[in-house]
Amino acid sequence: MSKTVVILGAQWGDEGKGKIVDLLTENAEVVVRFQGGNNAGHTLVVEGEKTILHLIPSGILRKDVVCLIGNGVVVSLEALQEEISLLNAKSISVEERLKVSFSCPLILPYHIEVDIAREERLGKKKIGTTGKGIGPAYEDKIGRRAIRIADLYQPPVLSEKLRSNLDYYNFLLVNYFKKSALDFPQIYEQLLEGGDRLKSMVGDTEQILFDAIGEGKNILLEGAQGSLLDIDHGTYPFVTSSNTTIGGCLSGTGLNAQNIGTVVGISKAYCTRVGEGPFPTELQDETGQRLAAAGHEFGSTTGRPRRCGWLDIVALRRACRLNGVTSLCLTKLDVLDGFEEVKICVDYKNNNSNNRLAFGQKHDTVATVPVYETLSGWTEKTSGVEEWELLPSNARLYLERIKELVEIPIDIVSTGAERSETIVRVNPYS
Ligand code: GDP
Ligand code: IMO
Ligand code: MG
Repeated sequence: MSKTVVILGAQWGDEGKGKIVDLLTENAEVVVRFQGGNNAGHTLVVEGEKTILHLIPSGILRKDVVCLIGNGVVVSLEALQEEISLLNAKSISVEERLKVSFSCPLILPYHIEVDIAREERLGKKKIGTTGKGIGPAYEDKIGRRAIRIADLYQPPVLSEKLRSNLDYYNFLLVNYFKKSALDFPQIYEQLLEGGDRLKSMVGDTEQILFDAIGEGKNILLEGAQGSLLDIDHGTYPFVTSSNTTIGGCLSGTGLNAQNIGTVVGISKAYCTRVGEGPFPTELQDETGQRLAAAGHEFGSTTGRPRRCGWLDIVALRRACRLNGVTSLCLTKLDVLDGFEEVKICVDYKNNNSNNRLAFGQKHDTVATVPVYETLSGWTEKTSGVEEWELLPSNARLYLERIKELVEIPIDIVSTGAERSETIVRVNPYS
């Protein structure tokens, strides 16, 4: 019987979703992205070969897996083409196995211009976006003026929509942001060309999913970003512009609640965040620098340094509740190797509401002060360990304590970037 597993980031993104999706697609026939766009950067390492994906689902390295880009994803034709070429150059076939929903809204050059211009205008108050045009593209979707993939194949419709959108965006760019106007002919030609190249890969991804389920195939849903970047539930306004939590899986694919089986929440063994916004356990000291160095904490999309800190249980619990996480995956345990002691934030000092799930529920104007529990570290390596029993006992105690605090089993532990450097205690497809 078909089983659907959802992989969601339980922090602020970059939890290692790509690695785990690639690993678990050994058991899945179809992998689908359902939200976000090429703001995502998912890293896969297989036998020393590194691949960073932004749009194409992380199942693409497994040659029989069908990869879908669901209707909830905003698509940059240029970024998609670049990624296909990059994979083709590695002798990975894409065209036969990738299907993109004809309902996906497109990211256009004016979205990127506005994204960047807004951030400039915000100055110190900026969000720290990836500058990929994500927010403005989703604004057009909600504003019912998005150009969708299906429009590429109806030139009169495309032309009319593009003209009308350019009118609006050029007015904004020139008069408000004091930037240059964009040309209609160049964008129009690029869209037609891009549409031609993509044509064989466009399809009804919703129907493909239901057909696959009907045939008993296993499905994997690959989240992008993380729960605390969710437009509704995250640390607003320092969030991305889509629903990164469980609801996005349904609205971004056409699947229904009955289709969802296991929900795997992924968290690093510590915390990172790239971009601006609240981060209660951030360490702006040597320990933070040590985590950043050991974890090579630079953004996979923008190369920006990631902010680092101890694991935040209050935030993790909230992410698990939001998504109905049934199984936890803890990644980058190896990064903590050699630390004399490791800390876990178990509460906040100024948590007046006494709500153990409080973080991120309102705009945090008061700095949140973490309450830490300190555990002994471990000198032995966890790096590359593939069996639970071979982990140093203090590393196991650390994981056991997290499980106890979050009250969800830790079924997968990642001990390195390589696909094989993983402890799978319970496979979500079993
Ligand atoms: P994603 O956006 O959630 O897919 O995560 P990213 O790929 O942006 O960032 C995770 C980074 O950590 C990548 O460089 C991975 O190769 C790396 N990584 C994943 N799991 C582990 C792990 O267990 N240990 C170490 N050291 N690196 C890991
Ligand atoms: P993956 O899928 C980490 C962050 C940006 C910024 C905010 C809004 O690799 O985990 P946007 O460009 O989306 O409007 O930026 O969201 N952000 C991410 N941070 N990982 C990501 O994706 C991210 N995608 C967006 O840094 O703070
Ligand atoms: Mg990433």
